[in-house]
Amino acid sequence: MANSSVLVMVLIALLGTLAPLTEARAFFVFGDSLVDSGNNNYLVTSARADSPPYGIDYPTHRATGRFSNGLNIPDIISQKIKSESTLPYLSPQLTGKKLLVGANFASAGIGILNDTGVQFLNIIRIYTQLEYFQQYQQRLTALVGAQKARGIVNQALVLITLGGNDFVNNYYLVPNSARSRQFALPNYVRYLISEYQKILMRLYKLGARRVLVTGTGPMGCVPAERAMRSRNGECAAELQQASALFNPQLVQMLQGLNKKFHADVFIAANTHEMHMDFITDPQAFGTLPSIYVTIY
Ligand SMILES: *[C@@H]1O[C@H](CO)[C@@H](O)[C@H](O)[C@H]1NC(C)=O
Repeated sequence: MANSSVLVMVLIALLGTLAPLTEARAFFVFGDSLVDSGNNNYLVTSARADSPPYGIDYPTHRATGRFSNGLNIPDIISQKIKSESTLPYLSPQLTGKKLLVGANFASAGIGILNDTGVQFLNIIRIYTQLEYFQQYQQRLTALVGAQKARGIVNQALVLITLGGNDFVNNYYLVPNSARSRQFALPNYVRYLISEYQKILMRLYKLGARRVLVTGTGPMGCVPAERAMRSRNGECAAELQQASALFNPQLVQMLQGLNKKFHADVFIAANTHEMHMDFITDPQAFGTLPSIYVTIY
């Protein structure tokens, strides 16, 4: 008893001396509404989450621009790396020391393709997000110097979430959409994967070295899609088929990139399976939020 409490005290003392030395790593977020933490609040767009019921389970119970009833995936990752949530890149508060936390460049409505989400008007397409990342690095360099800035970016954790909108808000947006007339589904998926690869190579070029890449969720199970496309409320088959084609090819493409770069830079996150777990066995995860809101 006495020994173990001494051990605990020694550990606490050690942690006390170590804690100030370990700065949380920076975190950068790219992608669509699944990871947008409020950039679209600053834009003239119809893709926004700044009014109720968004945010009802958020700590402040206010809509923040997150497309969620509560925290979103980036918030939870920030918690896990013991960091505060990254600010939206367009937030005027993202200055000075806050830059060291990282930044969230995501914008609801966008996709892998430049023509995805055109109906939402003014959104930050992925190549613009990457340009903003470059701009961010210039600002970081002004703050801490070039060498330290490079180190922060190289050691950062990066999350990128793309692809859902290229189906829901492009290929399947309207019957006989331009993209669905241009491509059969398997060819469209191949095209998306090849365009996504270019985006990830650009991200690598900009200094990202540890990148979580999520696949698409079970898009056919999105409430709006079930309402529009299924007879008895079941998950819509065609969109389920789309993610079944997309996700394994994404994993393969990431493996190819890691081989090319001789490092495990890109890590596939199987959001489809995680999501299906919630749907098929909700009790296993405790109390569900009172409502489930998301648009892509
Ligand atoms: C999308 O836009 C970016 C930047 O404007 C451009 O570099 C890229 O080639 C475009 N992609 C396609 C497939 O047209």
